[in-house]
Amino acid sequence: MRSKSAACPSLGTVLCVILAFCLTNSRAHGNSSENSISLTVQNDGGNKSSPLLYGIMFEEMDHSDGGIHGQLLQNNGFQGTSLNITSYAAVGNATISQDSTKPVSKAIKSSLRVEVPKGVTDYVGFANTGYNGIPVTGATYNSSFWMMGEYSGTINLQLVGSKSGIKYADHNLTVKSTKSKFTEFKTRFNTTYSPDGYNEWHLTFDGSKVDGGSLNFGYIQLFPPTFKGRENGLRDDLASFLDEIHPAFLRFPGGNNLEGLQVDSRWKWNTTIGPVVDRPGRESDWFYPNTDAIGLDEYLWWCEDMGMAPLLAVWAGKSYGDIISGPDLKPFIKDIMNEMEYLFGDTTTHFGRMRARNGRKKPWKVDLIEIGNEDDLTHGCETYPDRFNQIYKAIHHKYPHITIVASNGDSKCLPSPLPKDVIIDLHLYRKPDDFVKLFNQFDNQPRNQSVMVGEFGCRNSSSAEGEYWPYMQGSCSEAVYMIGMERNSDIVKMASYAPMLQHFDFVSWSPTLYGFNNTPDSITPSTSYYVQKMFMTNKGDTILPVQSSADFGPLYWVASKIHSKYYLKLANYGTDPQTVKVSIPGTKSGRLEMLAGPQYQGDTPYHAQIQTVTTSVFNPQGNFSIHMEPWAIAVLTVS
Ligand code: AHR
Repeated sequence: MRSKSAACPSLGTVLCVILAFCLTNSRAHGNSSENSISLTVQNDGGNKSSPLLYGIMFEEMDHSDGGIHGQLLQNNGFQGTSLNITSYAAVGNATISQDSTKPVSKAIKSSLRVEVPKGVTDYVGFANTGYNGIPVTGATYNSSFWMMGEYSGTINLQLVGSKSGIKYADHNLTVKSTKSKFTEFKTRFNTTYSPDGYNEWHLTFDGSKVDGGSLNFGYIQLFPPTFKGRENGLRDDLASFLDEIHPAFLRFPGGNNLEGLQVDSRWKWNTTIGPVVDRPGRESDWFYPNTDAIGLDEYLWWCEDMGMAPLLAVWAGKSYGDIISGPDLKPFIKDIMNEMEYLFGDTTTHFGRMRARNGRKKPWKVDLIEIGNEDDLTHGCETYPDRFNQIYKAIHHKYPHITIVASNGDSKCLPSPLPKDVIIDLHLYRKPDDFVKLFNQFDNQPRNQSVMVGEFGCRNSSSAEGEYWPYMQGSCSEAVYMIGMERNSDIVKMASYAPMLQHFDFVSWSPTLYGFNNTPDSITPSTSYYVQKMFMTNKGDTILPVQSSADFGPLYWVASKIHSKYYLKLANYGTDPQTVKVSIPGTKSGRLEMLAGPQYQGDTPYHAQIQTVTTSVFNPQGNFSIHMEPWAIAVLTVS
């Protein structure tokens, strides 16, 4: 391979460090322990590869509320049962309390009462400190609140440094509020950039006008710019970062969070639609309230905005507390069919009309429905065949075009026979060596049973919850496993790394694909993010046979092509470097993407010290020589 080295000055310090690491290491290893392997990519033969192979899975966990969803104020509707007045504080000479005698709506069952002592002449009110702070980027922000009580005059909104007192936004609006009902006020204002995330939102009013009385406020909201400018949308920076990996599908809304700790706290589709003030939220499976401001429609807008196929999971009778099966499941099946009508019905149907009222006239395009989540676990196995059959029959009868996914792959927990064309969903969280042992898991599977690996990720922690972020060996093991899936992507139709996103200050599960908190530039990809990106953005539609001079291990590979473009993915799961001599007849130029770093090093919150490095390649005979460091992952793209 003749590769043009990446030029350090234009790539920045991080890249230079990585390049320096690679160069130093290749010199240090010299040729003594460098192994050599030849790979010749065939031009034809091989399997068709699933166009949906690589996607993402999202469930609300690790506080993605206030993350992927753009709304920045925490506990904004007093939803759930665990927060009380978390994240609120009085501003000036006022007293605040949660007031359940004045609900904002049927769903939002309380509001914030702000009492003003007699004789106050200043502006007083309350603060919300967000999800451990508020990012203020200098962009225009949207804000809204509901208000009840006699008041006619100015409301002042500010974004203020909690420690510094510096004002990053200072905005007045005029309101007229009455004591008979809650009224919503919406506004937008410019901000100036805050160098840290220690900021809070203040709402104050003229205390002299309330003198000895009180006002109530509820369902407050603050949005930075959203992805594609959507109202109630995703946070633009976090969503754009995700969009860069080009996922083919989105599996939602869980995961455990679909199931509910009890039947009644399951994810209920019909309480996640319509105006956000009519969504009650719920105490989630991850032990904090979900606002459900990302609801069924928002998930589907998200899919459309990123060009992803939706894979919607429906509740299938299993919660952590109780399981509903047999005839008792009937009302829940009716509810699923209502959900289907909401998705697909035209505007002459009850639920189709409701969807149109909520902003989506055209039916949604959903071709994949998963029945439940992990029904081989948490006492679900025995009843799943019955629950699956009942739900499958109802959906398949009315919507035969939908492909159904079963929530596990254990034959003891599945109906026998499984209806034709059902995809089974496997979840794998493994230590690095164990992932690599599963490299050939799909090689000898029957070709008539389609598979989805709906959750996978390397976990190697001494504690049950996992504490560490991805590191090179672990990410390399994921790459090896993905190479195994891609080689078999005639039957492995879909795969998604999980979990997706983590707020660094509220971690319930680690590792994740990427993370953030409210400090500027905090969005940090993990080494696994880079692996996902390299694999998702470089894939053909046909897997090609490869002739090799050695067996798999420690080097693993898969080749694919689309039109005249060829992709070769490589992973070196070992302690020695490898020279890979590649021949792809008929090609001559392209690029090499390489992710390399020490075995136990990864990207750490705020420091993406290991990143993909891209170089150009050229050889008129289609012969390329690739140096693979230990634990390196590479993709060669040539045509
Ligand atoms: O991804 C975290 C959890 O792991 C998911 O909620 C669940 O499906 C799996 O057990």
